[in-house]
This record gives sequence, C-alpha cells and structure tokens, in this order.
Amino acid sequence: MRALPTARAAITVRVPAKVNLYLGCGPLRGDGFHELVTVYHALSLFDDVTVAPADALSVTVRGEGATDVPLGAENLAARAAQLVAERAGVPPNVAITLTKGIPVAGGMAGGSADAAGALLACDALWHAGLGRDELGRLAARLGSDVPFALQGGTALGTGRGERLTPVLARGTYHWVVALAAGGLSTPVVYAELDRLRQRPGSVPPLTPRADGVLSALRTGTPAALAVAMANDLQAAALSLRPELARTLQAGRELGALAALVSGSGPTCLFLVRDAEAATGLAAALTAEGVCRSVRRATGPVAGARMLTAPER
Ligand code: C5P
Repeated sequence: MRALPTARAAITVRVPAKVNLYLGCGPLRGDGFHELVTVYHALSLFDDVTVAPADALSVTVRGEGATDVPLGAENLAARAAQLVAERAGVPPNVAITLTKGIPVAGGMAGGSADAAGALLACDALWHAGLGRDELGRLAARLGSDVPFALQGGTALGTGRGERLTPVLARGTYHWVVALAAGGLSTPVVYAELDRLRQRPGSVPPLTPRADGVLSALRTGTPAALAVAMANDLQAAALSLRPELARTLQAGRELGALAALVSGSGPTCLFLVRDAEAATGLAAALTAEGVCRSVRRATGPVAGARMLTAPER
C-alpha cells in the first residue's frame, strides 16, 4: 500500500436532497434498472457527512430517522469510503458521522447524498486527488442518484439516471415538502410500476420526454414549471400508499401550484409561488394533519461541498 499523507482533522461535507421535477420511466432493462429520463433539482435540505481518521471503518447516524439508516455493509457512505480507500491504496479506516437533515427513505436520495459526501470527504482526508470526473465514475457505481448529489443544481439525467447533462434553469423555486410516516423502498416502488404496467388493458409507456420541464425552466416561471412537472413513479407510490392522495389533494386545495410525489416517495412535494406562500402552505398542511411533518426549501442549490478544509 502507498503511504499517503493523511489529514489529521475531521472533514465535513454538506450534501443536498434531490427531487425529480420530471421522472419519465421507460422499460425495465436486462440489468434490473429502468431506462429513465429525469430532471433532477437539488433542494436546501442537507445531510452533513463528517469523516475522521480512526482504527476501523464505522458509521454513526444522528438526527431525525437516524435509527432507520442501515449501518452495515449496505450503508452507501461506508461503501463510498471503501471505494476511495481502494483507489488511494490506504485501509478504509475512517469514522463516518452522518447528520441527517434529508428525510430517510423519503424519495429524496438521502442515502445517495451521504455516499456523495463520503466520496468527497474521504478523497480530501486521504489526499487521494481523484478529481470530480473520477469521483463521478465512483458515484455512478454506488447508485443511480449519487452523481447528481455530487453535482447539484438542476440537471437532466438519462440512462438509469446516472448520466448527467447540465440544463439552463433560471430563478429560484420555493418548495414545501410533506414527510410521511415510514419510508418506501425504491426497488419495491419500481416493481409496483412494472406490475401496474402489466395489468390487462394497460397501455405501453410512452417514450419519456422532459421537453416541457426543460422549456419551463428556461423561462424561470413557477406557474410554467408547475404544469410541466410529472412523475411516472407516482402511480406506483400511490398504489402502495393510497393515503398519499389525500396529502397531495390537501396541498392543491391549499394553493400549491403543483403537487407531486417526490421520486419513489412517500415524501410529497409542492411547488409554490414564493417564500411567503411556502410559509403559508407549510402552516396549513401542518394544521390539516395530512402528513408527519413539513419542511420548506428552495432550489436549486449546489451539490456536495466541503465545510471544513483539509489540512495540508
Ligand atoms: O441505483 P440505485 O441503487 O439507487 O437503485 C435502487 C433500485 O431502484 C435498483 O436496484 C432498482 O431496483 C431500482 N431502479 C430502477 N431503475 C433505475 C434506478 C433504480 O429500477 N433507473
């Protein structure tokens, strides 16, 4: 193994949640993934990923939903640390602390965000010097949404979601997110979509096209974005959790410009006109009692970024 200089202090990286302004789901591929056309958008709900030198690899989780995050081999941040260690030629001895601000299993890519944060933080900790391109390749190996968590902003995702193209997006958008009790498993939601599509009388899915959302983003007008937003996974999430229809309906009746399940759910996403409307809708949704809790957010925000500079 190469002896690399190791930063002594802990390093913290802040990573945003994502929503899909558009998620068009094509057919199931031979590798078990679906061909996607999606528009990712990074929101101002964040996880902080701290890595510190240690005698062994460990993961500690703090914040809301912490006990629902897997700590073993399936923890994406731990796997990210192992990938960087392999590349750097060092043992993956690092204590990872995840401070959750992104809902766990909520369809906002919290696990992917933690993986992206761990990639960037471990690269800095071990002075691996992998660079954004190589980190992007490692990110794609870890999960379909991980490259976007590194990049942030607003981007078109194709392939299984891992191939990113920047998009021209004007303005800042205001969002309210309604968190549900309990999570939904992403593979289970995709499998439910396949089941719904195989029912007798179902029409084959159209080729997904994000044009409507992309042109709305060029105008920077929330009302234009609202009519173009769509999510093919919504029907599957509603089939598994019918009570989410009530949350979406309440948001529409309370004045949201658009109401959509976020990714694979069960978090519901509401687009509103401005910050004042966000405060009003958040209070009204809370009063209606149609969700576990409510957050306000804006987007787009930057992707994974270092909060503490590594020691040199
Ligand atoms: O890529 P990621 O590990 O986040 O995907 C989790 C699961 O979601 C996959 O194993 C697959 O079942 C489903 N998925 C899919 N098509 C995609 C992305 C994810 O079917 N494009």
